[in-house]
Amino acid sequence: MPQKEAENKVFESITEIAANRGFFWPTSEIYPDKLAGFFEYGPNGLALKNNILKVWREELVEKENMIEIDGCQILPTSVFQASGHLKSFNDPLITCSKCGFKTRADRLIQEVTKEEIPEKLENEKYNELIKKNKIVCPKCKSFFNKAEIWNMMLKTGIGAELKQAYLRPETCQSIFVNFPRIFKTCRVKLPFGIAQIGKVFRNEIAPRQGLIREREFNQMEIEVFFNPEKENEININNIKKETISLYKERLNKTTVEQALERRLIKSKFIAYYLTILKKFYLKLGIPEDKMRFRYVSKEDRPFYSKETWDFEVLTSLGWLELCACNHRGDYDLSGHQKLSKQSFEVVDETVNKKVLPNVFELSAGLDRALYAILELTYKEEPKDDRTIFSFPEKLAPVQVAIFPLVNKEGMPELAKKVYEMLKPLFKCFYDESGSIGRRYRRQDEIGTPFCLTIDGQSLKDATVTLRERDSMKQIRIKISKLIKELRK
Ligand code: GAP
Repeated sequence: MPQKEAENKVFESITEIAANRGFFWPTSEIYPDKLAGFFEYGPNGLALKNNILKVWREELVEKENMIEIDGCQILPTSVFQASGHLKSFNDPLITCSKCGFKTRADRLIQEVTKEEIPEKLENEKYNELIKKNKIVCPKCKSFFNKAEIWNMMLKTGIGAELKQAYLRPETCQSIFVNFPRIFKTCRVKLPFGIAQIGKVFRNEIAPRQGLIREREFNQMEIEVFFNPEKENEININNIKKETISLYKERLNKTTVEQALERRLIKSKFIAYYLTILKKFYLKLGIPEDKMRFRYVSKEDRPFYSKETWDFEVLTSLGWLELCACNHRGDYDLSGHQKLSKQSFEVVDETVNKKVLPNVFELSAGLDRALYAILELTYKEEPKDDRTIFSFPEKLAPVQVAIFPLVNKEGMPELAKKVYEMLKPLFKCFYDESGSIGRRYRRQDEIGTPFCLTIDGQSLKDATVTLRERDSMKQIRIKISKLIKELRK
């Protein structure tokens, strides 16, 4: 089978499994006017999503003493004038001269030529490439009109007068707008991070590939503010021996210390935040040999960034960007300072000097992470007639499933007692329907790491069988020792 076909098969099958097992599916799927690029999360998807967020909060926000805020999704025009999004948040659009089919010029050229095509070329360059490669409309084989600039902002009208406003395309703009107030009221000192989770909206020209390119999606963003004169004054002792894979012209697998010595990474500040980000993704169960940071060239970098490293994960779709790590300099703070005519400068107490902070950003897509976790943990084991998601325990939608072996002889009563005992501590699920084998398979299918079965012997000696998902090993254990064992 050609590689591309096989790869798409994996993606398609994970997407189908996700829908069938209550993770996610297209929005309003029962209607013919359903919108492309919008997805709904079912109970298992929502639980997985919340568990990813929990790990993100624990590993980044809490460990690094960051502040978290929750800003609005609709913001006034001024915010996006100052941020540059109304002028520069664009993709190159091409329209078929005959059938009107619309698509992204860079993507179509890339698909046809199999070459990397930058997102930020002049339109004239796309026109030349289309002509040179004789690219025609994939629907009706006619010629395309000249490439145009397509702004991805979603506009809305507020109140009866329909005052123009926009749905935010990245969560961080409210972090920047709120920066002076947060600095004044939250007793923070440079350097410090502000984090935010939330929905964002982009009017993508051609959303495809499920959760990978949506029009409404979730971000987990962190903006770290620092004095630009102190970009190398951060203690990296506890991370300098960590390994890190940096793709800059070629793959460099190195320690953080060596990456700095070899000037692969420009500053200790960037090295520190890339490393803690890597550790967060390891906690999500992404194998280290499937992750890398890719240095993004000037032509491909977003308009607000001086330096970008994309955190990427190898999936069946190729290297997939899960998090953009951008050095935004003072681009945003100076933009809002200028338009609002308010000062965004703050005092760096360590040098007793007023500075306009610089920003290093970790902008992670939640939905893409969720897809990558599903794909990388999915296994088919035909020998045992089962499929599993081998999620890390912390991510599993259900952590412990509890079954009475049969639906009689006092087993359901004891099983319910065990369920009530464990419920406050773990995400539990009680199931008494179907054969025991079928019940185990159902839990494997949604990645439940532990199943407990209450059988005849349980009634005699207060023990249960504890089955572990990946090995399918079963041990017999006293009910009184269950909590300790499961915690372990
Ligand atoms: N604040 C910077 C920013 O928003 P970005 O690279 O545009 O940077 C950050 O987006 C992350 O959001 C990406 O790494 C990706 O994980 C996710 N993302 C971007 N566009 C997306 C889309 N259309 N659908 C799903 N996730 C998307």
